[in-house]
Amino acid sequence: MNNQLAFEAINIAKYFGNFKALEDINLSSKQGQIFCLLGPNGAGKTTLVNMLSTLSEPTKGNLKVLGVDVVKNPQKVRELIGLAGQYAAVDEYLTGEENLYMIARLYHLSAREARVRTKQLLEDLRLTGAANKQVRAYSGGMRRRLDLGASLVGRPKILFLDEPTTGLDPRTRLELWEIIRRLVKDGTSILLTTQYLEEADELADHIAVIDRGKLIAEGTSKQLKSQLGGDVIKIELVRAEDADKVIEAVKDIASKTVYYDDSSKIVNVPVGGNGSKHLIEVVRALDKIGIITNSLALHQPTLDDVFLNLTGTKASELDNQEVPKKRKRK
Ligand SMILES: Nc1ncnc2c1ncn2[C@@H]1O[C@H](COP(=O)(O)OP(=O)(O)O)[C@@H](O)[C@H]1O
Ligand SMILES: [Mg+2]
Repeated sequence: MNNQLAFEAINIAKYFGNFKALEDINLSSKQGQIFCLLGPNGAGKTTLVNMLSTLSEPTKGNLKVLGVDVVKNPQKVRELIGLAGQYAAVDEYLTGEENLYMIARLYHLSAREARVRTKQLLEDLRLTGAANKQVRAYSGGMRRRLDLGASLVGRPKILFLDEPTTGLDPRTRLELWEIIRRLVKDGTSILLTTQYLEEADELADHIAVIDRGKLIAEGTSKQLKSQLGGDVIKIELVRAEDADKVIEAVKDIASKTVYYDDSSKIVNVPVGGNGSKHLIEVVRALDKIGIITNSLALHQPTLDDVFLNLTGTKASELDNQEVPKKRKRK
C-alpha cells in the first residue's frame, strides 16, 4: 500500500435534508504528511471527518482511506484509522490509565499487552503523573492528550484530529503540536482540522481551505500566500468612514482585489512585486484626497491575509461568526 494516498475524496457532497453541508469536494493527501482542513465554524470540517471515519455516509461521491472504499468497506477502514474528535470522548469517572487500558482491551490486546501499551501511551503523551487521577480532575489540555492517546491505542496508519487544539491555552497547544509532529515522524499520516491559521501555517504540509461547504483554496502555506501575488500595503485608517474613499483611491495601484477589515480599520492593498515603489504611489494617492492615516506599512502576506481576501472575513473573528460579512471591492 506504499504508494497509496492517505485519503481521497472524489466529488463529495453531503446534504442534511435540503441543507448542503458539503458540495463538490475533491481532495487527496499523500501518506506521511499533515493535511490541514482549515475553515471557520460550520464550514463542514467535522462533516468530512465523520464521513472519512465511517460515522456517516456521503450523499454523493467516493471516499477512500489508504485505497479502501469507505462506504463499501467501513470495517476495513476502521482498522486503519484513529479519530480524536472535537469533544473529548473519554470516561470522566475512570482514571487516564483505566480509560486507555479499557480501550486497549476493546482492541483485543491481552491483559499484559494492554498494560504495556497503556504505560507507553501515558509516557508518550506526558500523562504518567496523572495516570491514576480521575479524568474529571484533568485540565482541558490533559483531556485532549488522553483523547489523542485513546485514538492511538490501535496504532492507526492515519489519524483524524478534529480541532485538536480549539480552546487550549498557547502552551498546551505547543505541547500538542510537538506530539503531532512526533507522530508524523514515526510514519503516521494526519488529517487535522482547525480554525487557526497559525496552526495550519505551523504544521501543515498541505492546506485545504473550506468555507460554507465549498473548497475555496488549496496548496502549501507558501502557495496560498503567493496567490496574493507578493506584498500587501496595509493602510490603517483613523476613521472607518474613510474606507470607501480610500479603496477607490488605491484600487488602480493594487495587483489584486483591495480588501477592508472593519475591526482593525485596515485597508489591504495587494501590490505584487516592487512594494516600496507602490508604497510611494499609495502615499501620493492618499495625499491627493487629503486622508490622514494611523499607519501605513508594507507587509509580506500572512495566511490571515489569504483568508480575508478569499472570504472577506478575518480568521481570528471566525469563532463566533455565523454569517461572514462580505466587504470585498475592486
Ligand atoms: N446532523 C446534522 N444535521 C443537520 N445539519 C448538520 C448536521 N451536522 C452538521 N450540520 C450542519 O452542517 C454544517 C457544517 O457543520 P460541521 O461539519 O460541524 O462544521 P465545522 O466542523 O466546520 O464547524 C453546519 O452548518 C452544521 O449546522
Ligand atoms: Mg467541527
